[in-house]
Amino acid sequence: MCGIVGCILKTNKAAPVLLDCVQRLEYRGYDSVGIATCSSSGIRIKKDRGKIDEVSQKLQLDELPGEMGIGHVRWATHGLPTQENAHPHTDCEGKIAVVHNGILENYKELKDRLEREGHHFTSQTDTEVIAHLIEKYHKQGLSLEEAMNQTIDKLHGSYAFAVISSDEPNKIMGVRKESPLILGLGDGEYFLASDAPAILQHTRKIIYLADHETFIMDDEGVTVKDRDGKVVDKKIENIKWTPEMAQKGGYDHFMLKEIHEQPKAVKNTLFEVSEIEKIVSKFPEFKRITFVACGTSYHASMVGKYLFEGLLGLPTDVMLASEFEFAADALDPESLVIFISQSGETADTLKALKIANKKAETLAIVNVLGSTATREADHVIFTRAGPEIGVAATKTYISQLTCIYLLVACMGRKKWLLEQLQNIPDCMEEVLSYEDEIRKMADKYKDSNDFFFIGRGFSYPTAMEGALKLKEITYIHGEGYAAGELKHGPLALIDDEVPVVAVVPPGKSHDRTLSNVEEVNARGARVIALGASDDDVLNFEAHDMIKFPPEISELLSPLIYVVPLQLLSYHISVARGIDPDKPKNLAKCVTVE
Ligand code: F6R
Repeated sequence: MCGIVGCILKTNKAAPVLLDCVQRLEYRGYDSVGIATCSSSGIRIKKDRGKIDEVSQKLQLDELPGEMGIGHVRWATHGLPTQENAHPHTDCEGKIAVVHNGILENYKELKDRLEREGHHFTSQTDTEVIAHLIEKYHKQGLSLEEAMNQTIDKLHGSYAFAVISSDEPNKIMGVRKESPLILGLGDGEYFLASDAPAILQHTRKIIYLADHETFIMDDEGVTVKDRDGKVVDKKIENIKWTPEMAQKGGYDHFMLKEIHEQPKAVKNTLFEVSEIEKIVSKFPEFKRITFVACGTSYHASMVGKYLFEGLLGLPTDVMLASEFEFAADALDPESLVIFISQSGETADTLKALKIANKKAETLAIVNVLGSTATREADHVIFTRAGPEIGVAATKTYISQLTCIYLLVACMGRKKWLLEQLQNIPDCMEEVLSYEDEIRKMADKYKDSNDFFFIGRGFSYPTAMEGALKLKEITYIHGEGYAAGELKHGPLALIDDEVPVVAVVPPGKSHDRTLSNVEEVNARGARVIALGASDDDVLNFEAHDMIKFPPEISELLSPLIYVVPLQLLSYHISVARGIDPDKPKNLAKCVTVE
């Protein structure tokens, strides 16, 4: 959802550093890219539409003079991805440049007024009003900082932005409101970014800005102020993520690396058990659980429902964050509302969290340290997946699931569950070793136009997640369905052109899903079955089968059965010539509603 970066260095190398930083943020948007640097000769900007490598080759983005500057990767919201709409944006005289992540809701009225006052706009973006407003107030005699503060007062919406000006060429200023922004402290060098992986190779000393905090950085340091203009003594966090964690490490794509990192992600998340026990020990008696999340995190929540209801007997709802406000009136004050989010910055989830905070106890399960959700929720559990760069969530899904299983084990004092979870990393390694077989399957099915994914109970979320992965990185239509619902409509779509992926682990749902497999078989579908290696009947019914160790119970199957589905989508994506790390129209962190 757009990424911004900035740096003040000791050397004249700001442009190559900014280019490197935006490249590491490309998962946030890849419609266009731009860099502005400031030196004694003023502000120089290079920007264009397209992926960073293409634009950089064309324009030599790293060849700009200056020790300081700002950069941007864009995921278009206002205005098409064009050269004019690419950031940085400037004022009328090109003396002020701005990069922005977020959405300005009142930009039209601001723009109309500024145009009436004689300002000349060159883009269709909401961002450009920031540059012109600062120009206006600066020309009225305010300092740049005062002009920025006046500007902030006029803006409605979400924003993290950074500003440079040739009038004060040694400074970068900016603010954060409802869009992520961190500052990095190097050795006499200073950085800013939307997300830590952008600057990990320069520093792991991070300041997390809170909403409404502004910052000014120059070559002497960083000052953070609150909305009343008082200097804030910010805590400097030493983050544990390393630069290597945010690199491909020999894999062709981040997504493949992250799929293979899943056993480790589970192991690391299992270490959180003592933290979870501490949190649980403070819980009052809850009468109800409500999960709130989006996308893949919503699928993890669906597994949570089966666990909380099945093992703890606690009535559990699962709600899409974007729908939460329409049903929150009935929220039970004796509820625990659990928010699941990889980024901790998803706008829909944060909005729901604000509403829930007024009515019930809240818990956030989040991967990104310092993210907004971690500051807003009453309790926080961290998933220990490490940075996830591929746009499609994989290892963070598995870590979210691990956290939910741990939470249920701790709340219900289920020692046996904790013990069984210890075996998951080894099982996962075994399943990952099927990759060659899955690659061949991907080749066989890559030209299909539609897929169905079916499962019941614990396998229903797995089917949903399998379908989502397929849609987002292969652009093939995939539908995740509760297997029993197929006969209530979608069966009409099934024929020999439509592969059906059936998730059929051994357990309570097995026989009924098997009969659904027989139903689709009778309509000519090609069935890819996921089941136990000793399930001969399923093997007989299936055209292709992915076989799992029989000891993986239905209860634990969501942690394991999804892995080959991630690999299947990954290999179909590659076989279709798509870059699975950068699927079209998507971005890693969705900071708009
Ligand atoms: C799918 C995917 C998205 C996210 C969703 C929520 O692979 O990544 O569906 O799961 O945008 O994001 P978070 O978990 O950051 O709140």
